[in-house]
Parts: sequence; structure tokens; C-alpha cells
Amino acid sequence: MEKTCWYKEECCNEMIRGARGELWPTLDKSNHWYILEDLLRIVYGQTTPLLLDLGCGAGDLQNQQIVRDRYEYYGADLSNVINNVALEMNPRGEYVKCDVIKDMNIDFISIFDVVVMNALIDVMEHPIYILGKILKQCKKYVIIHRQNLTEKETYITTQTSYGGITNISHINKKKFFDIISRHKFDIISLKKTGLTSENHSLLLKRRETYKKQ
Ligand SMILES: C[S@@+](CC[C@H](N)C(=O)[O-])C[C@H]1O[C@@H](n2cnc3c(N)ncnc32)[C@H](O)[C@@H]1O
Repeated sequence: MEKTCWYKEECCNEMIRGARGELWPTLDKSNHWYILEDLLRIVYGQTTPLLLDLGCGAGDLQNQQIVRDRYEYYGADLSNVINNVALEMNPRGEYVKCDVIKDMNIDFISIFDVVVMNALIDVMEHPIYILGKILKQCKKYVIIHRQNLTEKETYITTQTSYGGITNISHINKKKFFDIISRHKFDIISLKKTGLTSENHSLLLKRRETYKKQ
């Protein structure tokens, strides 16, 4: 996993260029932002607003109107990305340094009312395992934005990204829904993003009161 771009300091400059809109449109100008914004709107009507942007990258989500107006934002990412990308682009943000693969203890996640993962599970080599590890800690609402779901068995592809390579996960739909249900979440919304035929965005809500594990 250290071989992926996310662990490489030399890829951080490219992540900054991405966040500045030099490689593709920024979040608010992207063709999938309205889907994520809709989900944030649904959640806002129903819960207190402590939001964790897990795998935040540059932390651009905190700059969006709905988040600025309605949520208390925290970003979390690898320490190298927080130092070299998030703090460079959004120095006044609040961040947690964490590695969802390597860290044994990620129970800080359970503080948050809503956990947003925008293309985080998407880049995991073992997406089902990591999704389960994270869902175990999620108290109430979870947004999984930009995730490939497939009728085939789960498979991983690689692609160039920010001057390095990344994994891209394509999760078997049945296994994906099973793990969500096993962790006592209901699907409140499931939409296609339109980015690829497999790409989806979901809002989940915990069925039962969260018990710290
Ligand atoms: C495709 S980028 C998405 C970034 C951001 N959410 C966005 O939409 O612009 C994937 C993000 O996941 C982060 N990431 C990758 N592996 C991680 C890990 N093991 N723990 C925490 N974050 C990780 C990367 O550093 C990167 O910021």
C-alpha cells in the first residue's frame, strides 16, 4: 500500500494542483457535487452537525456553503496528506491524522454524527474489510460518495493518479449490501453518480443506537 500515491510526498504537489482546479474541476464545479450536496441536506434536517470528512485530501468540502453554514467540519487523512495538502490549502481547518488501514484504533470516528467518505473506500485494496472496520465505529450517518459497485466478484484495478498509482475498488453489490446490513445500517438513499455505469453515492443510517465497542 505504501506504493500508492497517497503515501508519497512527491505526489502532494499534484494533489494541490488538483485541489486548485488545475487538473479537473473543483468539488463545487464537478458534475457529482449536487448529489453529495443533496445527501448533506437530508442529513442536516435530522441530526446534530459534527461532520468527519474521512480521506479529506485538501479538505475542500469545508469550503462548500452547506458545510460552512450548517456543519462543524473535521477532516482526516494520512499525516503526509494533512501536512502537505490539507494544511497548505486550508490552513485554518481542523484535522485528524489517521491511517484507516494501519491504525489499530480508529475509534475517534465514533464522536461524529456524520462520516463522509468521498472516494476513500474507492482507493482501498481491501475495500470490504476497511469499510467494515470504519462502519463499526460510525455512530449515526454515513455518506459513501463515488464508489464502484459491480454485479461481478469484487475486483481491484490500478490507475495512475497524481504522478503515482492508486488502487480502484469495484465492490460486489451483494457483499457491499451485506456488510452494511451486518453493521446495522439502513440505506436511506442510493444514487448513480453518472461518472461510470458502476459509480454510486449512498446515504446510510444506523438502525440501532450505537454502542461503543
Ligand atoms: C481519491 S482521494 C479523495 C480525496 C477527497 N475526499 C476528495 O474527494 O477530493 C482519496 C483520499 O483518501 C486518502 N487515503 C488513502 N489511503 C488512506 C488511508 N489508509 N487512511 C486515510 N486516508 C487515506 C488519500 O490520501 C486521499 O486524500
